[in-house]
Amino acid sequence: MEQKTKLVMSQIMEAHHANLFGDVHGGVIMRFMDNVAGATSVQYAKSRVATARVDEIQFMLPISVGAFVTCTGQIAYVGNSSMEVIVTVDVENLSSDEPPQRALSAFFTMVSIGEDGRPQKVKPLFIETEEQQKLYDMAAGRRAKYQRRAPSDKQDR
Ligand SMILES: CC(C)(COP(=O)(O)OP(=O)(O)OC[C@H]1O[C@@H](n2cnc3c(N)ncnc32)[C@H](O)[C@@H]1OP(=O)(O)O)[C@@H](O)C(=O)NCCC(=O)NCCS
Repeated sequence: MEQKTKLVMSQIMEAHHANLFGDVHGGVIMRFMDNVAGATSVQYAKSRVATARVDEIQFMLPISVGAFVTCTGQIAYVGNSSMEVIVTVDVENLSSDEPPQRALSAFFTMVSIGEDGRPQKVKPLFIETEEQQKLYDMAAGRRAKYQRRAPSDKQDR
């Protein structure tokens, strides 16, 4: 069966998404990213999921009200019950010919949750392309790094 490792969602930012200064509130975008990480991992694991960790969130560009925002989730790594989802946000002005620009990125660790409310095993990731292998190796490196940093501390794996 074909594995589904990618999910894309877009929305136009509206006035009620704005902060005090008129740009889109960072928390609104982070919520959008968490939703996409959740949907990407639910689509892969076919289960309920929980967000366990968010690493290296970067805000590279402010986002304006009226911008067309596309958020993409990509499963990069699958452990036993956890998945790393790379989440990117691109912004585009639909009334111009300018190409979309990368506004944010982050790495979400999502955990598959079974009916008993505990983490449950997810199917292994089948690597089909060199690009997927590269993403997998980089994600495995990140996981090893945070596990090395505090191996006995569940708060900071
Ligand atoms: C995420 C959670 C289910 C993990 O439970 P747990 O008892 O620590 O589970 P385990 O120790 O068995 O770990 C399960 C997996 O999660 C990973 N994990 C757990 N906490 C992690 C963390 N802080 N960072 C990265 N990975 C983590 C483990 O590495 C393990 O991965 P693997 O199975 O692929 O090897 C639990 O900590 C939790 O419920 N947290 C709150 C989640 C939440 O409320 N999120 C916001 C709303 S969705």
